[in-house]
Amino acid sequence: MLNIVLFGPPGAGKGTQSARLVDKYKLIHLSTGDIFRFNMKNDTALGKLAKSYIDRGELVPDEVTINMLKAEVEKYPDAAGFIFDGFPRTIAQAEALDKFLKEKNTSITLMLALEVPEEELIKRLLLRGQESGRSDDTDENIIRNRIKVYNEQTAIAAGYYNEQGKYHAINGVGTINEIFERLCHVIDTHSMII
Ligand code: AP5
Ligand code: MG
Repeated sequence: MLNIVLFGPPGAGKGTQSARLVDKYKLIHLSTGDIFRFNMKNDTALGKLAKSYIDRGELVPDEVTINMLKAEVEKYPDAAGFIFDGFPRTIAQAEALDKFLKEKNTSITLMLALEVPEEELIKRLLLRGQESGRSDDTDENIIRNRIKVYNEQTAIAAGYYNEQGKYHAINGVGTINEIFERLCHVIDTHSMII
């Protein structure tokens, strides 16, 4: 299986690049943010709970997020692999994911981390906020809080995968095509080795 963690701060391009990668490598795309938003739109109990965190730019509690992610993975027993977009976001989530995948006799292959300067992130998200209807994109203070939460709670997860020799930083500035090529290069180089 090819299991990729697509990592990076809010607005780094995780969703944009995931859409192209799943097409090329025939993987299942699991975005915890998208799943929360689906639940918010349908006003489920999970959606109501998630909304109270997402609207402030805070992380949804680990236990809720981990259980949701596991249930999503279970829906695809025949998958050739997954792209985890926006998960894991804490060390606890990374450890839970490792344990869960091990039980399934698989593991994370690579973490691809998109690197984009903060002012570019804010510019991208404010631009999207004009049309997306995403409650966490419209207010610059909430966007800045999402980036702060990323720096304080999430960035550390990169070290977790670095220790396992799985971490690869990718320049996330450029055209969508250029960045896609950079990601594919790392995946293809790695696939030749394993
Ligand atoms: P989530 O949905 O994961 O949002 P995020 O990480 O804040 O990131 P975005 O989805 O905004 O950005 P992206 O990196 O996907 O970039 P995109 O491709 O969209 O999480 C939302 C919230 O849910 C969290 O704050 C948290 O509350 C909760 N949550 C989610 N997962 C959780 C977890 N594991 N644990 C706890 N809580 C969790 O691109 C952004 C914009 O830039 C788009 O408009 C795009 O068109 C544009 N763009 C993309 N590439 C380029 C480029 N190369 N040049 C110019 N513009 C570009
Ligand atoms: Mg996204």
